[in-house]
Amino acid sequence: MHFTLADLVTDITQNGAESGASLLELEVRESREPGGPAEFRFAVTDNGKGMTPEELKRATDPFVSDGIKHPHRKVGLGLPFLIQTAEQSGGGWDIKSEKGRGTRVSAWFDADNVDMPPVGDIPGMFRSILMFQGPREIDITRVRKNGTGDLDYRIRKTELAEALGDLEDTASLVLLNRYLRSLEADEDEDE
Ligand SMILES: Nc1ncnc2c1ncn2[C@@H]1O[C@H](COP(=O)(O)OP(=O)(O)OP(=O)(O)O)[C@@H](O)[C@H]1O
Ligand SMILES: [Mg+2]
Repeated sequence: MHFTLADLVTDITQNGAESGASLLELEVRESREPGGPAEFRFAVTDNGKGMTPEELKRATDPFVSDGIKHPHRKVGLGLPFLIQTAEQSGGGWDIKSEKGRGTRVSAWFDADNVDMPPVGDIPGMFRSILMFQGPREIDITRVRKNGTGDLDYRIRKTELAEALGDLEDTASLVLLNRYLRSLEADEDEDE
């Protein structure tokens, strides 16, 4: 299957954006201990509508994602797919949700596991997420500690909008792309 962790994170973050949240937080962390285990983990927190335990059970049930809603999709997405991918590649997951208050979905992956999907395009993922309509604030934390290309930065949608405008016209999108790639020290792949 051709999908990346960035696709998974985008999908789970989109659920948060569609939850009626005013604040959407995303943390993406990659770490490698010297000579030790390597891990990719993320957490999405929203202050949206939340789920009852029954709704959460339904949302995580793989038999509910039967491909009827999105017959054109090559891969199933949503929470069951996240859970399946994490469990199959030596990782894990955690979901906490409270009706009327919000939801936090986190998952971690063993970066050395052969069944782990490729990480994918992180700056491209942040760009898609920053363009989600709905939340007033989208707050992204990105940390990578692998001994060589360490990263630690934070992006807030409201601050970007002040600097770049409404993130809807082509000029501000080009600037946004360039900015996100520069944060990731990924300038060679500009655009
Ligand atoms: N962060 C969240 N807050 C509130 N409800 C959620 C959240 N995440 C998932 N849900 C609930 O779980 C359901 C299933 O989520 P899932 O992502 O599998 O499908 P979907 O979002 O309905 O459709 P799709 O992602 O295929 O467009 C959602 O419709 C929603 O009711
Ligand atoms: Mg969804």
